[in-house]
Amino acid sequence: MDTPSELNEAVTPQAVAGPLMRAAIFLVVCIRQDEDAYAQLRAFCAGLSGLIRAVEFRDIEAGLTCVTGFGSDAWDKLFGPPRPAELHPFREIRSGGRHAVSTPGDILFHIRAKRMDLCFELAMQIMDSLGDAVTVADEVHGFRYFDDRDALGFVDGTENPRGDAAREAAIIGSEDAGFAGGSYVIVQKYLHDMKAWNALPVEMQELIIGRRKLSDVELSDAEKPAYAHNALTSIEENGRQLQILRDNMPFGRPGHGEFGTYFIGYCRTPRVTETMLENMFIGNPPGNYDRLLDFSRPATGNLFFVPTVTFLDDVTTDAPNTTESAAAQLVEPPSPEPSSEPIAVRDTSLRIGSLKGERDE
Ligand code: HEM
Repeated sequence: MDTPSELNEAVTPQAVAGPLMRAAIFLVVCIRQDEDAYAQLRAFCAGLSGLIRAVEFRDIEAGLTCVTGFGSDAWDKLFGPPRPAELHPFREIRSGGRHAVSTPGDILFHIRAKRMDLCFELAMQIMDSLGDAVTVADEVHGFRYFDDRDALGFVDGTENPRGDAAREAAIIGSEDAGFAGGSYVIVQKYLHDMKAWNALPVEMQELIIGRRKLSDVELSDAEKPAYAHNALTSIEENGRQLQILRDNMPFGRPGHGEFGTYFIGYCRTPRVTETMLENMFIGNPPGNYDRLLDFSRPATGNLFFVPTVTFLDDVTTDAPNTTESAAAQLVEPPSPEPSSEPIAVRDTSLRIGSLKGERDE
């Protein structure tokens, strides 16, 4: 598989592998189901990079970026064939009392900058352009918390790939040549039970995450339990670690008792993130699940494809050729991917080592 550095120089990826920023807005919208709205969206796509530049330039030092992703159904209706090889709806997972929900969402805007006001301005401009062609499914304003800590108090992002390794993990290469330079992104908005989490001794929290809380140092193999979050999310294939690029952000409303982590993971294939999710929710082996989930529940779940800037700039308002689409579907071999049916798994957990027991849901 070619690395992204061997990519066709003619395409410009979106700012997927950008540096970590102090502020972010995660905006997920659903498109009104009629052709007028889709045509409006296509015109919007073609103008999006100009809109981002207009806001970015007001303080170029603030590093404003916006990554835009499209859900499986929206892709077909907006752009038609060809479609990215591994684009499908987010696959729900149920196991024991744990549930990785799949929720509505056609487009994701992941807006990042050093200053929240720039993120806010761009979100406002985007919503202004889209008008009633969309409804908002979810909007989260995230912020950096002390030394990059999540709402649970642990430093989040340490083992993220950097530089070339980040691009290598997140950006599609020649394996799907027509979509080289693109990426897949999975998002989940987690809500935490902070009372229960804070009632745990710090040593127990450290076993759940797999790192020390204050120093962020990783637990040794001897200290780290098999259910540690960083054990279950470390995936290897043929002796090579498969990585994703995360940019989680804490968010919350203390006055409403709401505390959360917005999980966002980019990868050149959704399979890596999906395997991590299976390990977390079902367990590896089944039952050895992620104890973070005794204290955290995802309220959303979506998978989007992130095309290149070049692709978006070239979008025209014409509706996709559905005759071509029907013909393509007739000749295309069936997808090697498993169906998008929810994965229902019998809970094989003996709940040994469960720190809280069954969640009351
Ligand atoms: C409740 C939501 C989550 C929280 C609070 C959380 C927090 C953390 C923390 C504190 C670390 C250790 C520091 C680091 O290396 O970044 C970590 C590592 C990691 N997390 Fe999460 N995470 C969450 C959800 C997820 C999900 C849903 C995935 C993937 C589907 C994931 C994938 C990873 C990976 C790949 C690592 C690095 C593992 C390693 O190689 O050491 N996390 N997470």
